[in-house]
Amino acid sequence: MAEGAREAVLLRNITKSFPGVVANDRVTFDLQPGEVHALLGENGAGKTTLMNVLYGLYRPDEGEIWVRGRRVHLRSPRDAIDLGIGMVHQHFKLVAPHGVAENVALGLSGTPFWAPARTVGRQLKELSERYGLPVDPDRRVWELSAGEQQRVEILKALIRGAQVLILDEPTSVLTPQEAGELFKVLGRMKAEGHGVIFISHKLDEVLSVADRITVMRRGRVVGTVRAEETDKAALARMMVGREVVFRLTKKACQPGEAALVVEDLHARTDRGTPALRGISLAVCRGEILGLAGVAGNGQRELVEVLTGLRRPERGRVAILGQDLTRASARRIADAGVAHVPEERIRLGIVPGLSVEENLILKKHHRPPFCRAGGLRLAAVRQFAGRAIEEYRIMTPGPRTPAKLLSGGNIQKLILARELSGNPALVIAAHPTYGLDVGATEQIREILLRQREAGAGILLVSEDLEEIMELADRIAVLFRGEIMGTVLAGEATLEEIGLMMAGERRTVAVGEER
Ligand SMILES: Nc1ncnc2c1ncn2[C@@H]1O[C@H](COP(=O)(O)OP(=O)(O)O)[C@@H](O)[C@H]1O
Ligand SMILES: [Mg+2]
Repeated sequence: MAEGAREAVLLRNITKSFPGVVANDRVTFDLQPGEVHALLGENGAGKTTLMNVLYGLYRPDEGEIWVRGRRVHLRSPRDAIDLGIGMVHQHFKLVAPHGVAENVALGLSGTPFWAPARTVGRQLKELSERYGLPVDPDRRVWELSAGEQQRVEILKALIRGAQVLILDEPTSVLTPQEAGELFKVLGRMKAEGHGVIFISHKLDEVLSVADRITVMRRGRVVGTVRAEETDKAALARMMVGREVVFRLTKKACQPGEAALVVEDLHARTDRGTPALRGISLAVCRGEILGLAGVAGNGQRELVEVLTGLRRPERGRVAILGQDLTRASARRIADAGVAHVPEERIRLGIVPGLSVEENLILKKHHRPPFCRAGGLRLAAVRQFAGRAIEEYRIMTPGPRTPAKLLSGGNIQKLILARELSGNPALVIAAHPTYGLDVGATEQIREILLRQREAGAGILLVSEDLEEIMELADRIAVLFRGEIMGTVLAGEATLEEIGLMMAGERRTVAVGEER
C-alpha cells in the first residue's frame, strides 16, 4: 500500500493506442501535492492523450491510475471530477449563450436547482478573489476574451473541488501579460496544496513555471528533470532527440520598393460583423512585416482579402504598384503573390492529388509545364524532383497522394510550390503552427532565404517568439485595427503584449514608409 501513497496522482505504465499509432507507450508520471509538473513535448508526442486518460475520457489499454494512494478505475470525467481532478482543455467547452455563473453551475452536483446561478455566483466570487482570477459572473460567455474564458474554466474546476488541475497548452490563447497572470495564479494554487499538470511545447514557459518537467517524445517518456537543474538546450534535446539551433542567422534588412500597400481597408466576417476597421500597412521587398495579435482579431479576414478570397467593403490594396483591390485569387497569384494558407489541407493542397501534381497547381497553365494546351510530363517530373530535394520533402515518391504526408511535409510542399516563381510578396499565415521543431526550423530558414532573395513577406503568427525572431517590423492587430508598429530590434515583449490587449501605441515607427 506504500505504493503511490504520497502522490496526488500516479500513472503507471499507461499504454494507449489508436489505429496505427501508439499514443502512450508504457508512460509513468506522478504529481505531488503542491507542485507544478510540466508535461513537455512536440505536437503529437502524446501529452493530451495521457491527460485524457487521467481525466477519464479514454480508457487505457494497459497500466494503472492511482489517486492519493488508491488505485482507481475511471469510467468517465465524472469519476475523475469526483476524485478531485479538473481539466481545462486546449479548446474550451463553455456554452456560449449562457452566463458565466450558469456555465459554472452546469453539471455541478449538489447545486440547488431553483437558484443555481445565485449560489454559484457567491462561491465564484470568493474563489476568484482567493486565487486572483477576476471574472464577472453576470457576463455572457460570448462577451469574454479567451483569457477570461480560461479563468472561468479554472474556477469551474476549483468549484468542483479539484485538488489536481490539468491545463492543456493554456498559454496558447493568452497575451504575454495574461500568461504572467496565469503563472501567478498557479503559484497561489500551489501554496494552497493543489497539484498542477501544465502541458506545453514551449521551453521558456515550462522552465519558468514548473517545479519538475517530464518530456515526452513519440508516445514515450524521455525523462523527468527538476526545472532548476536543466536548461533550454537540454530540454530541446530531450524533446526533439537531437541538437537544436535557436539562433537563425539573419542578415540586415535591405528594404526595396513597396511590395504591398494597404490603405484604410474595411471588411466583414462571414457573420457580417466588422472584421477589419481601417487597416493601413506597407511591406517592402526584402522585408518581413510580422503581424501579431491574439487569434480572431481580423487576421484571417485580412489574409483572405489580400489573397483574393474575400471582398473588402472599402479601402485599397496595391501590389507592386498595381491596384488589385478586388482582383481574383488567380490574378493576384499571377501578379507574383505567394500564399501560405492557415488551412493547409483545405486551401493549400488538393489532398487526393499526388505530390508532384500539387507542386505544379496554379502553374499548370503556364510554361514550362504547358505547351500547345498539353501538360509536359518531363518538365513536371524534373521540377518536382528538384523541389522535393531542395525543400527536403519526405515522401515515399513524387506520385504519392499529398494527403499521406505529415503536416510538416505538406507545409514544405506548399512553400516549394508557392516560392518557386520568386514571388514579390509572400503572405504567410501561421506557417509553423502545429509543426515539430525540426520542420519549424527549416520553414523559418526558407522564409528568411526568400526575404534575402528580395521578397516582401507578411508573416501572420500567434507565436510571438517566431515574430520577434523573423520580422523586421511588427504590427499588432486588435479588433480589426492596427494598434501600432514597432521595429523588431527595439520592441519588448511587454510593449507588444499591451498592444495585443488593445492599448494603442502613440508613436508610430516606420508607419510612414
Ligand atoms: N482520438 C484519436 N484518434 C486517433 N488518433 C489520435 C487521437 N488522439 C490522438 N491521436 C494520435 O495520438 C498521437 C498523440 O496525440 P496527442 O496526445 O494529441 O499529442 P499531443 O497532445 O502531445 O500533441 C498523435 O499521433 C495523434 O494523431
Ligand atoms: Mg495536445
